[in-house]
Amino acid sequence: MRPKAELHLHIEGTLEPELVVELARRNRIDLPTFDVEAIRARYSFANLQSFLDVYYENMAVLRTEEDFYDLATAYLRRAAAQGVRHAEIFFDPQAHLSRGVPLEVVFGGLSAALKDGGMSAALILCFLRDRGPEEAEEVLRAALPYRERFIGVGLDSAEVGYPPSLFRRVFDIAAAEGLRRVAHAGEEGGPDYVWEALDILRVERVDHGIRAMEDPQLVARLRAERIPLTVCPLSNVRLRAVPSLRDHILPAMLDEGLVVTVNSDDPAYFGGYVDDNYEALRRELGMTDDQLDRIARHSFEASFAYEPA
Ligand code: ADE
Ligand code: ZN
Repeated sequence: MRPKAELHLHIEGTLEPELVVELARRNRIDLPTFDVEAIRARYSFANLQSFLDVYYENMAVLRTEEDFYDLATAYLRRAAAQGVRHAEIFFDPQAHLSRGVPLEVVFGGLSAALKDGGMSAALILCFLRDRGPEEAEEVLRAALPYRERFIGVGLDSAEVGYPPSLFRRVFDIAAAEGLRRVAHAGEEGGPDYVWEALDILRVERVDHGIRAMEDPQLVARLRAERIPLTVCPLSNVRLRAVPSLRDHILPAMLDEGLVVTVNSDDPAYFGGYVDDNYEALRRELGMTDDQLDRIARHSFEASFAYEPA
C-alpha cells in the first residue's frame, strides 16, 4: 500500500459506533440505542452542522483517560493498515471541557496512545470557532502547561458566521509559543475565509480549502507559497460540500499545481479511512497512480513533524 501521511483527522471523528456502545456500557451512560446499525443509520447529513450535532452527541461517551487511549489506539491501528506512516491528529478540548472532562484526562489518554502506537504522530489542538475567541484563548492558556504534548493549533466546527479574523489574538499567542498554525477554511465558507486564514492567522496549511478554487488570485497565492491544502473527498460528499465525488474539484487543484493532500477528516462518519479516500478518487474520478503518488508525496512535504522510522 502507498505510504502516506494523514494531516486532517479529528480523533473524535474516528469514534466508531461499536466503540460508542462499548464506552457507554463501560461508563454506564444511557444511549438512545445500543444497536450499532441503528447508530450508523443516523449518519446521513444535510450539511456540516447536521454532522456536528451527531459528532458532539456521540463523544459524550468519552470520559476517562482509558477512553481517549482506546480511541486513539484504534485509529492508529486502522491508519497503519491503510499505509499511514505519520499522522497529525486534531482534537477538540472544548468539547470535553464543556462536559466536565479535564484537559489532564484528554492529554493523558491521547499522549499515551501516541507514545505506544508505534507510528510517527503528533497532536494539533483545535479551537471550536462557534464558541468564540475568548474561550479559545482560555483553552490555549489552560493547555500551555502541556505545551510539549502538542505541535500546533487549528480552527474547526461550524464555519460560516465565524470568520478566521475573530481569532487573530489567539493565533498570535500560539505563534509566539512556537506552535504551528492551521485552520479549516473554504469548506462551506468562501474564498474570503481562506484569505483571512492566510493573512490574519498566518496559517501554514489550509484544511479543506476547496472553495479557494473560486478565486484565481487566491489559487496563484497558494501555488506561489506552496501552502498545502488538506482535502477530504469523502467528507465533502457526505456533508454535501460537493454534489458527488465525480464533481470534486481535487483533480483541478492538482492540475493548478497546488500542494493537495488527501485525508479522511472523520472516517467513522464518512464511510472510509484515508486509503479508502485515495481508492475512491481512482474509482470515481479515474485518478492515476502517478497523480495519487504525487498526492502522497505532498502529504510528507506538508507535514510538520514527520519522523521516519
Ligand atoms: N469537526 C470535525 N470535522 C469537521 C469538519 N469537517 N469541519 C469542521 N469542523 C469539524
Ligand atoms: Zn475537519
